[in-house]
Amino acid sequence: MSKAQKIQFQIDAHIVDSQCANDICTLVLQAPEIARTAVSGQFIMVATGDEKSHDPLLRRPFSISQCANGTIGLVYKVVGRGTKLLSKMTAGQKVNLVGPLGKGFKLHSQKKHYLVGGGMGIAPLPFLAATLREKFPDDPIAVLLGARNRDELICLDDFEEIDNITVACATDDGSVGYHGLVPDLLPGKINGTVYCCGPWPMMKAVAAISRQRGAACQVSLETMMACGMGACVGCAIQGVDFIENGYLHVCKDGPIFEAEKIWL
Ligand SMILES: Cc1cc2nc3c(=O)[nH]c(=O)nc-3n(C[C@H](O)[C@H](O)[C@H](O)COP(=O)(O)OP(=O)(O)OC[C@H]3O[C@@H](n4cnc5c(N)ncnc54)[C@H](O)[C@@H]3O)c2cc1C
Ligand code: FES
Repeated sequence: MSKAQKIQFQIDAHIVDSQCANDICTLVLQAPEIARTAVSGQFIMVATGDEKSHDPLLRRPFSISQCANGTIGLVYKVVGRGTKLLSKMTAGQKVNLVGPLGKGFKLHSQKKHYLVGGGMGIAPLPFLAATLREKFPDDPIAVLLGARNRDELICLDDFEEIDNITVACATDDGSVGYHGLVPDLLPGKINGTVYCCGPWPMMKAVAAISRQRGAACQVSLETMMACGMGACVGCAIQGVDFIENGYLHVCKDGPIFEAEKIWL
């Protein structure tokens, strides 16, 4: 089946592995249907609560960070009740989830691909890097990562496994790499496409730099989401053509957007 076909599954996925350190967790789930159909940039909605109590009632959205051999991997930060409950789950347990959801990155061969991630926004980039390497074996990939400090620089090992890729880091406290903000790592001349995921101000800055330097930029947006599939309008945002075309729904129209459709 083609990965371009829009199919979603609701499944009880076995947890293969679940690890946490300093409130940053990785979760590997047996989900062959989703692994077969997901494209990079898509996400899943995970029921984090007890099967019987349905508390919390709403599923929580997470980017697909890894996708291989019938499994999908998530990387998430414990920030509230849902992620706390998820972090207590162990290998062998099941979680109910829906996915793959949303629209993924648009990929074309380039002189270079620039993957820019900030904080937990780094999570979808390993899947993107692996997909780019598989589709375009000779295209160079530059990964630029930013975080508050060493402990919050996630997924570093995942990029090391990919050929012909360079990784540069920036930290707010200077504990790893450049002491400053990740948009500063973008080169003066950008020869290709920029793919960006992270806090909104950081993505806005990366989009503005890309535009100034004549490069296309795709951004992965995060909003609060109740349903994840276009039914609740909880994720509505205004794009640049809001007056003519109305709201965009991050879950259904995104989460990946061309930056110029969101910010002028
Ligand atoms: C498409 C998408 C992909 C995501 N991918 C990841 C990922 O790969 N890794 C990861 O760690 N997180 C990711 N998130 C954010 C994640 O969904 C939230 O952190 C999670 O839902 C929080 O649930 P909770 O019950 O623990 O927190 P809650 O108790 O619901 O909230 C705790 C705090 O987190 C904030 N929060 C809750 N949901 C969101 C949200 N969607 N965006 C921003 N802030 C939020 C709340 O405002 C509150 O301050 C993603 C969000 C979206 C929309
Ligand atoms: S989260 Fe319900 S419409 Fe987008």
